[in-house]
Amino acid sequence: MKRTVIRGTGKYVPERIVTNQDMAQWMDTSDEWIVQRTGIEQRHWVDEKNPQGTSDLALEAAKIALDRAGWKATDLDLIIFATLSPDINFPGSGCLLQHKLGLETTPALDIRQQCTGFLYGLEIADAYIQSGMAKKILLVGAEVHSTGLDLTNRGRDVTVIFGDGGAAVCLEAVDTDQDVGILANVMHAMGSMAESLMTEAPASRNWPRLDEKMMDEGRHFPVMDGKAIFKLAVRKLPEITMEVMKKAGVALDEIDLFIPHQANMRINQMFAKSMKLPEDKVFHNIQQYGNTTAATIPLALDEAIEQGRIGKSGDVVCFLGLGAGVTWGASLYRFP
Ligand code: ACO
Repeated sequence: MKRTVIRGTGKYVPERIVTNQDMAQWMDTSDEWIVQRTGIEQRHWVDEKNPQGTSDLALEAAKIALDRAGWKATDLDLIIFATLSPDINFPGSGCLLQHKLGLETTPALDIRQQCTGFLYGLEIADAYIQSGMAKKILLVGAEVHSTGLDLTNRGRDVTVIFGDGGAAVCLEAVDTDQDVGILANVMHAMGSMAESLMTEAPASRNWPRLDEKMMDEGRHFPVMDGKAIFKLAVRKLPEITMEVMKKAGVALDEIDLFIPHQANMRINQMFAKSMKLPEDKVFHNIQQYGNTTAATIPLALDEAIEQGRIGKSGDVVCFLGLGAGVTWGASLYRFP
């Protein structure tokens, strides 16, 4: 039977660190408010003096992941690129990354699932591998949020949470009878809540797509009904965990580490509490990076492996998250 296994991971964040104190110089906020409400202490943002696009961050992460897998870029059958902040409107960042990797015709697919982009990407990669359509896949999650955030008081609830970064995993098809690799995926979406977290413009439904009035109103910046998303996440994350465990036939105490999307440390602490999990079973690194959206889960996986928290043969990890769309999902993975 074909199974999808992780062969290498890599991460990259821009050098520039933006602290909560920096934020307080631009808008009415404070280190105390940000830490208390979100757990975030700092984030990395690209530097105006050295502009980097989303595919540039992805490239650095991909090079590390490929190197750790012992693969050349030319070994890849497919690139899947998850981002809500592509370098340009179109074509997708997957094509830009493919070219930057020195590839000529390798297929590249962008997915727009925001905070669950990596999870949806895992499910798509798993389907390609199980169907025999691909053997070696590079899955990337990367974001440059900072060039599109409202640095005034109007956007302070959203702006303080977002960070820039990229992370990648190399996924390989393995023929085995063992119950290893991706064990199960479960994904959901609820479009009725699309406007509770969105960047509206430029929008093809508007004529024109963007004008000065819309810019004055800040409709080209992300807006969020934070309380509604928070409440939904606290409800849906335990539900999706139970659902993926049931699908895989894995019990709660068999899971060695939970790697949730890093949107807000309080959400993940409430998840741990409602699942009656000890604190050390849920991985956090939002303190250093903020919410890097499609990059948070692979970035956390890379760090969890580096720290020796996960990665031994037989270790089981649960990836889960909820975000714009609204979309939510979970995947279970056992290290071979
Ligand atoms: N600094 C100081 N005060 C602030 C800030 C800030 N940065 N932002 C908002 N406030 C103020 C508000 O104006 C409000 O003031 P008021 O009481 O005088 O009206 C007060 O703080 C409370 O505001 P809320 O927005 O209700 O704050 P809340 O406690 O909900 O925290 C937060 C906001 C952190 C955004 C939270 O709602 C949250 O994390 N929501 C979920 C985010 C999430 O999971 N998103 C999905 C992933 S992202 C993606 O998919 C792209």
